[in-house]
Amino acid sequence: MNILNNKLNNNAPIGFVDSGVGGLTVLEKVRKILPNEDFIYYGDTVHTPYGDKTKEQLLEYTDEIFKFFEEKGCKAVVMACNTTSSTIYDIIKDKYNFEIYPIVQSAAIILAQLPIKRLGIFATHGTIQSQSYPREIAKYNKDIEVFGQYCPNWVHIVENSLIYDEQSIKIIENDLKTMLKNKPEKIVLGCTHYPFLLGVLTQFAPKEMFIDPAVDFAEFIKKDLTAKNLINDSKTNGYGEFYVSANPALFKTSAQLFCKLEKDPQLLTFENSIKTISIS
Ligand code: DGL
Repeated sequence: MNILNNKLNNNAPIGFVDSGVGGLTVLEKVRKILPNEDFIYYGDTVHTPYGDKTKEQLLEYTDEIFKFFEEKGCKAVVMACNTTSSTIYDIIKDKYNFEIYPIVQSAAIILAQLPIKRLGIFATHGTIQSQSYPREIAKYNKDIEVFGQYCPNWVHIVENSLIYDEQSIKIIENDLKTMLKNKPEKIVLGCTHYPFLLGVLTQFAPKEMFIDPAVDFAEFIKKDLTAKNLINDSKTNGYGEFYVSANPALFKTSAQLFCKLEKDPQLLTFENSIKTISIS
């Protein structure tokens, strides 16, 4: 955070950002334990998937979205995306006037405490290539062998509501088989889209095998906001707003396979000026 402008309003909203519906898996967990918080969710659906984008592209998209969060007066922004947390967090972490919570760095602290020797990570190309999970976990525990596997089709499957198609199930089963050859004791769902696929994954491996890092991430956010006196004390139920950069109707349909949105998403793009359109 930019310490020169360190005057944050504890009753201001929290921003959440991802390339699409994936960040909803984080939002849901945060809302469960922080029900009074207001939030603004941005799904950058026009640029999805983030996993194949360059660092420069991700910096450009993120800068526009973070400026929007600044205009909205957010006190904190949750990077509900492993790919941007892995590739650009270190570059942008001090640039904006709010707290920034990246999922990988926070989750690694907890993952490093697991009493295991072999940990698998399913993630996007960008996250695997960055080596962020093995690097971050090794900061706290050098005895866990971390091996990553890139799942090229999974984000597309989730974004397009194809989870229970025969072909998708086959793809997911095959990727899981490859992972299981490494004999992991646990597998981290290292992309926020992947918890949408738990219904399929658990057809082929026990539920206890999979770790959704968002559970501990949400606890970390709560603890940190509390320590910084940034918890919303207005005692009313938090409100939410959803924005996407393309195709609000598809976002709504895909989101519904995980949670019900209490409000329709609005289209918001940053070309020239900010424009918003609600879907009917
Ligand atoms: N859900 C994001 C992540 O956690 C981005 C996935 C993508 O768009 O490739 O990595």
